[in-house]
Amino acid sequence: MATVLAIETSCDETSVAVVEQRTCLSNVVSSQIPIHRRYGGVVPEVASRQHLETINGTIAEALTLADRDWSEIDGIAATCAPGLVGALMVGATAAKTLAMIHQKPFLGIHHLEGHIYASYLSDPQLQPPFLCLLVSGGHTSLILVKDCGDYQTLGETRDDAAGEAFDKVARLLGLGYPGGPMIDQLAQTGNPQAFALPEGKVSLPQGGFHPYDSSFSGLKTAVLRLVQKLQAEHGNELPELMIADIAASFQQAVAKALTKRAIACAVDYDLKSIAIGGGVAANSGLRQTLTTAAAAKGLQVFFPPLKYCTDNAAMIGCAAADHFDRGHVSSLELGVRSRLPLGSVMSLYGILPNP
Ligand code: KG4
Ligand code: ZN
Repeated sequence: MATVLAIETSCDETSVAVVEQRTCLSNVVSSQIPIHRRYGGVVPEVASRQHLETINGTIAEALTLADRDWSEIDGIAATCAPGLVGALMVGATAAKTLAMIHQKPFLGIHHLEGHIYASYLSDPQLQPPFLCLLVSGGHTSLILVKDCGDYQTLGETRDDAAGEAFDKVARLLGLGYPGGPMIDQLAQTGNPQAFALPEGKVSLPQGGFHPYDSSFSGLKTAVLRLVQKLQAEHGNELPELMIADIAASFQQAVAKALTKRAIACAVDYDLKSIAIGGGVAANSGLRQTLTTAAAAKGLQVFFPPLKYCTDNAAMIGCAAADHFDRGHVSSLELGVRSRLPLGSVMSLYGILPNP
């Protein structure tokens, strides 16, 4: 059983974990959210500098909490793509340096594969094939998980990611950053039927709509128009209950759109399980809507605990341990990339050419 030290710095969390196969021994997350909040979103340069400040302490803490020393670590992993290049470089450089010093294999990990592996951490019995609904600040994808490193993207967002839509709508409702948790909380007191909002269908050139792709920019614009209309009627400071009703209606529109596509995809591909990953998997409306719809179709849904939904190094370590067991190792010359299709994961181990 491989024990891996993993580093995740693709965006605004500096995280280091020690993972033994599918068991998390430690998972330290140092969040930069309070720092970025004052700018209303992640500032890449600030994120890189902050990762530099915290990385060494976070590595030491993760090892101590796991009660492991370097001799007990088999491999050292870091998220290498996709993400903010400057931020990725901090984690990848730290991992490569440690790999050189301690003479251990280095493994570059695809961030989205990490989100998929969050489900294995919470449900070690989960076996492919299954459908992963990956909903984060940067991605909204329906992924057919066939095996370690073998993925097929069946559905995607055509514009904003689900989390991005939450963040943008929260901003226009004056709720602050990050928007997802704020909307989720406010939606508890609102009426999801208060306002009818569009589902965001993606038209096909031959007519009809794409069954699995989604679009959230139209929904975001519909919320903007709604807010403008309500402000013209009630003044710029909308009553709190009205904002809660908008939040609840928006959250329900997103939850229904994602649920409809995920269920259709699982049924069409004869998959019995749906695993959810990414920060938006924490959303209570999505959890409720999807759980109910899946049960009606006899499908199993796996929701990782919230600590594994948002960015964390434990999920990266879990993916790394599986790759390590299969003999996949990255070159110390591996660079970081802002984008890398999930279908190209194996290029990180020199098994597929770089796309
Ligand atoms: O996976 P993640 O931590 O980072 C990325 O890889 O993007 O996801 C962050 C996103 C943010 O857009 C945040 O607003 C959203 O996840 N999020 C939520 C909730 N918690 C976090 N969205 C909806 N409801 C939540 N409870
Ligand atoms: Zn993420």
